[in-house]
Amino acid sequence: MDLAEIQAGRQRLARARRVAVLSGAGVSAESGVPTFRGPGGLWENHRPEDLATPQAFRRDPALVWRWYHWRRRLISACQPNPAHLALAQFEARVPEFCLVTQNVDGLHHAAGSRRVLEIHGSLWRVRCLGCGAAGEERRLDLPTPPSCPECGGLLRPDVVWFGESLDENLLGGAWRAAEESQVMLVVGTSAVVQPAASLTQVARRAGAYVIEVNLDPTPNTGQVDLSLLGRAGELLPLLLQP
Ligand code: OAD
Repeated sequence: MDLAEIQAGRQRLARARRVAVLSGAGVSAESGVPTFRGPGGLWENHRPEDLATPQAFRRDPALVWRWYHWRRRLISACQPNPAHLALAQFEARVPEFCLVTQNVDGLHHAAGSRRVLEIHGSLWRVRCLGCGAAGEERRLDLPTPPSCPECGGLLRPDVVWFGESLDENLLGGAWRAAEESQVMLVVGTSAVVQPAASLTQVARRAGAYVIEVNLDPTPNTGQVDLSLLGRAGELLPLLLQP
């Protein structure tokens, strides 16, 4: 851990009035949530890319729901870790802050973050394929697959799957936050899934100072202003302290 580099990043963040954060699965790894492309990313030998698609759901909704039930149960037992908590506390000190997350686990909200854009949706919401009704659903004992209490249609998790578009308003908000930020912090993402991966370039082109925190180098690493290699749960409390 290079303390001089952490100090340089800390000063940038402490001075900034507009900060954007892009988070990915690595932020929740220390809470016990498996990342997608790391160890534990497979479920019963299925890759996420083979389950998280509209085609997979049409083919076998029960299989896809079994995977979501497993994830919902696992995550319901997880707590926010020091990385989530440091971000929530930091938010209270910055005039303009926006946390764009690819995570669907809800742990940023659980930590107390307020200005969060869940651009890949939420595991804790469902949407009806029949009538389109959508809402929060936290019960863990839903049938496999569950059906809509309003119209009897098939319910799906309200998350974005491969091949689907992101919500335009959320994406617009994420783009604006990146463009307007003075400092952008990119934490725990492999930076390979678009369009989220492009937000770093958007921020850089607009003149932001970009800090990356990751266990390992990513495709972004050579292009950011400061790359800190290590665990988010250790680095963020240092980086974001007042
Ligand atoms: P990935 O699983 O692709 O990447 C997780 C990243 O976190 C990797 O770069 C790890 O090196 C890093 N990492 C792991 N543990 C860490 C720790 N303790 N501290 C810091 N970094 C750590 O997850 P995402 O980049 O979030 O999309 O994946 C993006 C999207 O792909 C997901 O939102 C999901 C997935 O398919 C959809 O479901 C639409």
